[in-house]
Amino acid sequence: MFISFEGIEGSGKSTTLNSLCAALADEGISFVRTNEPGGSAIGRALRPLLLDRDQQLAQLAELFGFLADRAQHVSAVIRPALEIGDVVISDRYADSTIAYQGYGWGMDINMLNWLNQTVTGGLAPDLTILFDLEVEDGLRRVFSRNADRAGQTTEERFEAEPIDFHRRVREGYLKLAEMHPQRFRLVDASLPQEMVYGQITDILAERCSIYLS
Ligand code: TYD
Repeated sequence: MFISFEGIEGSGKSTTLNSLCAALADEGISFVRTNEPGGSAIGRALRPLLLDRDQQLAQLAELFGFLADRAQHVSAVIRPALEIGDVVISDRYADSTIAYQGYGWGMDINMLNWLNQTVTGGLAPDLTILFDLEVEDGLRRVFSRNADRAGQTTEERFEAEPIDFHRRVREGYLKLAEMHPQRFRLVDASLPQEMVYGQITDILAERCSIYLS
């Protein structure tokens, strides 16, 4: 079972993933938690460059950075884990490229689909959970988090993009969810954390027969 988590900046994926993974461990379910960019060794090396707000990366350089990470991530981490029957939970995957580079930057979606298909060997998640909320609410959370850790990170490049960019990314995600209704489930990420978590446990019970408290 391969599950991806997607959403705009500040949608609260990481916090919910912490609770989810703790619950999976309590149930004795064997799982791998991973993320993009950074799920592979090459991705971990590229991540600071890809996300550094002070880098002037050419769009294609950025795109191929995400794709290089994904190719390695699939072959070295995701496929081997699925082969031994682990549940794989990835914080972002191929839909991020369609939402950010495609809908956000305006790169050709057909080209991106083809590239995603090529680097993943056609491996799509069984389930994609989309954390949806208003862009303004997400960015408000991000800015208050960044203020708390001022000076500790420069990985804020996407967060610093204008609000219209984030609106296009959100719209892109919603279109993807509409195009793939079998694979996508939406959660209302504007709700308090316990309620978001409750939505996730309901989805996992319904879609994956995984029952968590
Ligand atoms: P990260 O710090 O992991 O943020 P988040 O907590 O929001 O997931 O940053 C990942 C950033 O990289 C995020 O802004 C989205 C962007 N991204 C792309 O633009 N394209 C991609 O293919 C991927 C995987 C991520």
